[in-house]
Amino acid sequence: MMRSHLCGEITPKLVDTEVIVCGWVQSRRDHGGVIFIDLRDRYGLIQVVFSPDSPLFKEAEKIRDEFVLQIKGKVRKRPEGTTNPNLTTGAVEVVAGAMTILNQAKTPPFEISDFTQASEEIRLKFRHLDLRRPPLQKNIILRHRVSQIVRDLLNKHGFLEIETPILTKSTPEGARDFLVPSRLSPGSYYALPQSPQLFKQILMISGFDRYYQIARCFRDEDLRADRQLEFTQVDMEMTFIEEKDIMEIIEEMIALVFKEALGLDVKRPLPVMSYADARRRFGTDRPDLRVPSELIDFSPIFASTKFERFKKVVSEKGSVKGLLHKGGASFSRKEIDELTQFAMSVGAKGLAWLKWNQTLQAESPVAKFFSQEEISALQRESGAAAGDILFLVADNTKLAENVLGALRIHLWNSFTIKGKPPALKEAAELLWVTDFPLFEWSDEEKRWVSVHHPFTSPRIEDLKELAKLDPVKEVTNPESILGSFKARAYDIVLNGTELGGGSIRNHQPDAQKIIFNLLGLSPEDIALKFGFLVEALDSGAPPHGGIALGLDRLVALLSGEDSIRDVIAFPKTAKGTCLISGAPSIPDMRQLRELGLPAHPKAAPSEKPAKG
Ligand code: AMO
Ligand code: AMP
Repeated sequence: MMRSHLCGEITPKLVDTEVIVCGWVQSRRDHGGVIFIDLRDRYGLIQVVFSPDSPLFKEAEKIRDEFVLQIKGKVRKRPEGTTNPNLTTGAVEVVAGAMTILNQAKTPPFEISDFTQASEEIRLKFRHLDLRRPPLQKNIILRHRVSQIVRDLLNKHGFLEIETPILTKSTPEGARDFLVPSRLSPGSYYALPQSPQLFKQILMISGFDRYYQIARCFRDEDLRADRQLEFTQVDMEMTFIEEKDIMEIIEEMIALVFKEALGLDVKRPLPVMSYADARRRFGTDRPDLRVPSELIDFSPIFASTKFERFKKVVSEKGSVKGLLHKGGASFSRKEIDELTQFAMSVGAKGLAWLKWNQTLQAESPVAKFFSQEEISALQRESGAAAGDILFLVADNTKLAENVLGALRIHLWNSFTIKGKPPALKEAAELLWVTDFPLFEWSDEEKRWVSVHHPFTSPRIEDLKELAKLDPVKEVTNPESILGSFKARAYDIVLNGTELGGGSIRNHQPDAQKIIFNLLGLSPEDIALKFGFLVEALDSGAPPHGGIALGLDRLVALLSGEDSIRDVIAFPKTAKGTCLISGAPSIPDMRQLRELGLPAHPKAAPSEKPAKG
């Protein structure tokens, strides 16, 4: 063994013991002829001392930060007044008796410490050094612990960990696929899985009953703080169950993880909110319940208003929605202009506002368009008091909700907490959102799409309606039918972040076929895309359902990181590049030729084939 003890293990119990420790030099300090080195490993720091009369002194002078050392020496108590109560090893030090410099190190581009000014680009480029910093070590270790808690719990409940293919076919989560050209079938491509969705359903059909996998998923989407091109799901599926069975296990899992990571007791069962309520009250399907304000519907007030702009919106079945911000009457014109800009940036056509002054008179550029009764009703229904501001958005209901939902969070961030959210320990608002619509109209694709994915089962009462439809013929008046179906789907939300989502699936092939038809898939499309699942559904599929949690998001929230990049050992940049390996890169000519792909102008010439 190269070491007898770990750096973080040297405590007063070991005084007078000979130890051998190995690690990296955190710092070297010269103090009037005595040299101190803080030696670091995963477990902590230990102070090593070289006295001027030590034969090692000259050697110790050569040591620089991040050198790798092996130190043999005796543990002794630190002199009175030199102890460091912040370290478990802070009352002792090792007097160096022998030292081996195991390796030297170039001066690092940034300090290996809790805080760094280095840009994220530099940190990702020198990730091997960044990962030495204590916060990242902590995050990666926490991630490991969360994975183990998940595994232990699911093993205890009889789940089997089963791997599913990475080289596969398009899965139905609706993001863009990553494609991998096949050498053996020129012109054909594998798709990397956006999730193990189809395979885990097949495992249920095969009778495995309970499956899980800490699964890597791939989605070619625009990156944000909580999105990566490849990310990890805690993915599971169960047979002969209902929604509550999945929810119970996930709640148990979240409670265990919160207890372990934060020492926090999660109150169970978690609250459940319908999608319709979440949209109506908070303007989103992932409400952040730390924010106290709620949206208010003023549409009835403006049904016969003289303000044409609002009247038209209400008559066209849109809404006039409002959001009260307490104390906001003090906002300056500039601040209101900025808030208006924000609202426009998320789709608003305008942002009307009314301030209530100290005598409870409404002040607003739009007040002149409103009758006295309308203003009184706005005040009454919003509960506005002197000093408050009310924002109004008139538009189609979905857009008005989206805008005010986003404004609600923006106001909280900018004015209430001023960008400093409370620690998770102080405020962890977990809830389930259920009763999602089965389908929604996509303006982008100009067709109806699944809100979750096409394998999600409609509510049982909707299944009966669905069964009346023809699995092949186009439905007339789709709006009235498709818009009304609800899904047996559930999302778990933590402080405004969607941690995970899942559903009870269609296990009856006919229902599945009708849903495919409603989504505009022809029988040929179905066979091509999902043929293997449909085939399996035809061979005695049991009722089943599941869920997937975003592991990166969960760990980021637990460790208080804004970005999931800080809980992934080797993340991609916002542009999707890996700064360590340089991926993505242009393959050489030979590789391209073998794959039957056109030569790239920047491709390196092929290497000469090896002889023999
Ligand atoms: P869904 O697409 O909702 O469901 O994904 C589940 C969870 O995965 C996380 N997630 C991501 N995390 C980081 N980067 C991304 N690009 C990213 N995309 C999603 C989120 C999300 O809630 N097969 C279904 C699950 C099921 O029905 O069982 C699925 O993949 O936390
Ligand atoms: P305009 O007639 O465009 O000058 O608008 C008059 C006021 O109504 C301005 O303060 C706009 O910001 C506001 N406004 C315009 N359209 C909307 C809308 N769709 N919702 C809320 N306020 C609006």
